[in-house]
Amino acid sequence: MNALDVSNIGRAFPVRGGLFASSKMLRAVEDASFVLPRGGTFGLVGESGSGKSTLAKIILGADEPTRGEVRFGERVFGKTTRDADRRWRQRAVQAVLQDPFGSLDPQMNIGDIVLEPLRIQKSGFARDALHKRLDELLAQVGLPAEFKRRRPGELSGGQRQRVAIARALVLEPEILVLDEPVSALDVSIQAQVLNLLKDLQDTLGLSYLLISHDLAVVAFMSSHIGVLYLGRFMEQGTRDDIVERAAHPYTHALIAASEPDAPDVHAISGEIPSPLAPPAGCVFHTRCPAARDVCRVDTPPEQRLSATHRVTCHFPITSKA
Ligand SMILES: Nc1ncnc2c1ncn2[C@@H]1O[C@H](COP(=O)(O)OP(=O)(O)O)[C@@H](O)[C@H]1O
Ligand code: SF4
Ligand SMILES: [Mg+2]
Repeated sequence: MNALDVSNIGRAFPVRGGLFASSKMLRAVEDASFVLPRGGTFGLVGESGSGKSTLAKIILGADEPTRGEVRFGERVFGKTTRDADRRWRQRAVQAVLQDPFGSLDPQMNIGDIVLEPLRIQKSGFARDALHKRLDELLAQVGLPAEFKRRRPGELSGGQRQRVAIARALVLEPEILVLDEPVSALDVSIQAQVLNLLKDLQDTLGLSYLLISHDLAVVAFMSSHIGVLYLGRFMEQGTRDDIVERAAHPYTHALIAASEPDAPDVHAISGEIPSPLAPPAGCVFHTRCPAARDVCRVDTPPEQRLSATHRVTCHFPITSKA
């Protein structure tokens, strides 16, 4: 069974156009569907503003979709949701964010930060049991036990992210939503944190939704990958479908931009259009080197290239073509 099924999720935000303008709808996510197999990692990749964090918040229950539903096994979060399922999600689906300490009290010590979710969910834990759990978690994320008395300001970025992972694990979750978990870290530290996440996944049997603007990070971690552009899936499939057999011109551009010897990070020409006024036809046509007339008029339907591989393009690039 899948850990997570996301079906036809849409999220539109009303935004004011200007002082005298009427409000418009910003469609941050449009008809997004994907599955995360149990024990796997679904990597969500796309440029800034493509709707990644909006999807993450909906899956975490921090935001409500305008349409569509999210399922974790038998538990359905849609038009109606059972209170028991909401409580289950508060425990079983946890987040690790880019800068988890932005919102935390710098005066709290690491031990209290890690244990806080447990204290909120279930009071009345024996002191000894809490401290045993804390020591076990710090060991799991590779931090010495004496770190529990330190404050966030005394830790490096990589150490702080290990604390954030320990905090996310304290309630024994089944799914972690990792939204740009290594984007704020030096490249040399990124690999250490990603390898820790991989080890924890194997040991604890976790399923991950991993979000990154960096295709290299997503390719390293993921069993499945979805490529988002302006809130729409351009392409999705297994890791190899996307990395070895990319069919969408945008995926090709992302791959070119992530090569170590890429000429510069702007391998994709042109600006991302405003999500308030997305291009007609294919939303990628203003930047696509393969665009033809039909792309400016007709929205491409999603095509299946194989049982696992789907692409939204009139002229997908396939090796047979
Ligand atoms: N609460 C909100 N109100 C209005 N617009 C929003 C809100 N949250 C996100 N957006 C817009 O939705 C789009 C997608 O944002 P986001 O999901 O944060 O993208 P990403 O995480 O891929 O950078 C952006 O255009 C962003 O400005
Ligand atoms: S539909 Fe046309 S514009 Fe869009 S990605 Fe495919 S070729 Fe490019
Ligand atoms: Mg984001």
